[in-house]
Amino acid sequence: MYDKSNQQIDKLATFSDTPAPSVTRILYTDNDVAARSFIRELMESAQLTVREDAIGNIFGRWQGSEPSQAVVASGSHTDAIPYAGKYDGVVGVVGAVEAIKALRRAGFQPKRSLEAIMFTSEEPTRFGLSCIGSRVLAGDPRVAVSLANAVDEDNITFTLAANRAGYDEAGDNLQSVAVGNETYAAFVELHIEQGPLLEEQGVSIGIVTAIAGPASLGVEFAGGGGHAGAVLMHLRNDAGLAAAELALAVERHVLESGSQDTVGTTGMVKLYPGAINSIPRNAQLGIDIRDIDGSRRDAVVERVRATAHEIAARRGVVLQNFTVVNQDPPAQSTDFVIEAVKEASEELGLGHKMMISRAYHDSLFMARIAPTAMIFIPCYRGYSHRPDEHATLEDMANGVRVLALALSKLSSN
Ligand code: GLV
Ligand code: MN
Ligand code: MN
Ligand code: MN
Repeated sequence: MYDKSNQQIDKLATFSDTPAPSVTRILYTDNDVAARSFIRELMESAQLTVREDAIGNIFGRWQGSEPSQAVVASGSHTDAIPYAGKYDGVVGVVGAVEAIKALRRAGFQPKRSLEAIMFTSEEPTRFGLSCIGSRVLAGDPRVAVSLANAVDEDNITFTLAANRAGYDEAGDNLQSVAVGNETYAAFVELHIEQGPLLEEQGVSIGIVTAIAGPASLGVEFAGGGGHAGAVLMHLRNDAGLAAAELALAVERHVLESGSQDTVGTTGMVKLYPGAINSIPRNAQLGIDIRDIDGSRRDAVVERVRATAHEIAARRGVVLQNFTVVNQDPPAQSTDFVIEAVKEASEELGLGHKMMISRAYHDSLFMARIAPTAMIFIPCYRGYSHRPDEHATLEDMANGVRVLALALSKLSSN
């Protein structure tokens, strides 16, 4: 079985917009659509009843003996940021199906139905918003508005992109995706750690107790532009330098928090017109700030905002946009789900450690509507969001075994 799931991961990696070993699979592109078909077939071949909602969250259900009871679910995402690896998210989707198959093979009969889920667009690449599928599923009321206004860099709207991928109702029917608090009795997500601790410490299983809260900012400065040779330095209003200063200020404000749990990244800077001999007249930044403490994170966001205004005034540029795209609270795992994962690890003789997740996951949103916990497995040097991301077959198999046993416990209650 584990061999097969490795083949599945390799196969999924071929649905990519960039050459191997990198994987790039962006929401509603042809490769994303191909990956979706692959996951549906995987679920069908596992004899799961497959359903898809209006934005393409895919659900594969094994009906329990008490189908009216709230469901126990597991899942993750298969989209991949540009030049990513093949394990982030994928392990949690393929692993959920494998865990259910293993339980069926073992003769287990669930009381609560078990469900494997593939969430739409955990990564924010195309429309700037992360965890679209789980966010909408969990009923965030602001999402419909931001998605309705969202366009990608080719000015294609979210709705058009969804329609082209075969989701005709994504525009008008987003509300139908939300499920209530009563739907899921528990949710467990299997994921590579994306950090080095498990590998360094030789521990097989991480049990996530909390997920740091992410905030994303979109910022734009506009200046005068002009000829790189002809305009004297004291006459410039260089939007690019305003952006450079703000990127450094993000680092400074984050470090001022005094906690290693506060992190900030200016991962996107775009300068226009983007010619070596033209003073940037427009600069756009994408800034990501996270913390396990939501109010400390928010204080950093406000300092960045104040500094953006200060830089604009001092440099004579216009702060055309300062948008908080999302500012999500951190999530706490639920004790009885943590306990089920812990017992499963112990019964299987696998070492475990409690840890926080600094990366976000669909679990950040599932925790709003369901008792939730996550299972982390080691990955090579903690590498993630890069082509050399790697998890061993043995570590993935351990994760799937713990997941299967935890699901069996949770679905029997
Ligand atoms: C998810 O990919 C994250 O950025 O944490
Ligand atoms: Mn990721
Ligand atoms: Mn992920
Ligand atoms: Mn992620």
